[in-house]
Amino acid sequence: MKRKLISALLTVTMAASLLAGCGTSTETADSGAKPATAEQAPAAASEAAGSEAAAPAADAKPAGDIKVGVAMPTKDLQRWNQDGANMQSELEAAGYQVDLQYASNDTQTQISQIENMISSGCNVIVVAAIEASSLGEAMDMAAEQNIPVIAYDRLIMNTSAVSYYATFDNYKVGTVQGEYIKEQLDLDNTTEKYTMEITAGDPGDNNAGFFYNGAMDVLKPYIEEGKIEVKSGQTEFSDVATAQWATETAQSRMENILSSYYADGTNLDICLCSNDSTALGVENALAANYNGKYPIVTGQDCDIENVKNMIAGKQSMSVFKDTRTLASQVVKMVGQILNGETVDVNDEKTYDNGKGIVPSYLCDPVFADVNNYEKLLIDSGYYTADQLQ
Ligand code: BGC
Repeated sequence: MKRKLISALLTVTMAASLLAGCGTSTETADSGAKPATAEQAPAAASEAAGSEAAAPAADAKPAGDIKVGVAMPTKDLQRWNQDGANMQSELEAAGYQVDLQYASNDTQTQISQIENMISSGCNVIVVAAIEASSLGEAMDMAAEQNIPVIAYDRLIMNTSAVSYYATFDNYKVGTVQGEYIKEQLDLDNTTEKYTMEITAGDPGDNNAGFFYNGAMDVLKPYIEEGKIEVKSGQTEFSDVATAQWATETAQSRMENILSSYYADGTNLDICLCSNDSTALGVENALAANYNGKYPIVTGQDCDIENVKNMIAGKQSMSVFKDTRTLASQVVKMVGQILNGETVDVNDEKTYDNGKGIVPSYLCDPVFADVNNYEKLLIDSGYYTADQLQ
């Protein structure tokens, strides 16, 4: 296989030159002083995506001469603005030049932006993909130029060009939502029956399935035993997915569900929503089309509008993913790659992008609700109290 051959050649080259590596396992990542041989590397890791992007592109350059490309999906959602701003300020504080781009959720725009980053000499590229499987050509171009790519928050699929992945533990985000519902309703002990509707994320985003599976792994047993009924019957991911995580799409789908299944006065007890933008759509639909007992509504991101809704009792919880933590971790990765140091990863089994396991750093998501948001969000300086008024 060509990829394996290139990989093997690179390993030899690295061993010979003692070049620092942006490899794919902790061993290959270890600053080139002791590069892993094919025999030493564990099978999964030697197959890992990114083997080819092994050599750091900016060996021995001063930080000021190094440019880092940061490709973000959209300015429409609050979180990506924060992610981009955090990345920019942290990278600049480390002395790097930064090329930060937003792509208006348009894949072609994101591809052009990444290609421009490559041709304008970026030494490392950080990408939060819009469409996980559509960046192939741009990724090939990065690999050809030996430019390490870090997948940011969302994994880039079906390419060997991704060296590392940094994200929050996406499956855990889902289990946190599921566990919250389970505890609020005391599902193990109650004899009550509850109704639920599910709103998941964008099928083009690899994270969306992890969120859905994490939550459903907690809740499915209760659906199966009849304690939770999904009246619409829409339980499969393909039924409940929301293209591009759009608030309006989630809203109109929930409006249809409410008028078809809950207009007769049936209470809707649980709205499992994978994130805040979809939760907002569901909350809008509830406000306009539902008069029953207000349901538990989950979310993710702690966006300002949603935290306000949490305070107003319209959303029960959100999962807090401190974008400062993720940005710091990625900036650290960038430095480690460029300096040929061992790159911090804490998961080398979960994220297979179709070409192999991508070594990952998973940050820890935590749950937020009306009881702890002040400590989590205001005391930590994430928001000011005024922003949540
Ligand atoms: C992110 C979530 C975000 C969603 C919509 C996901 O990939 O992990 O934090 O809410 O995209 O932008």
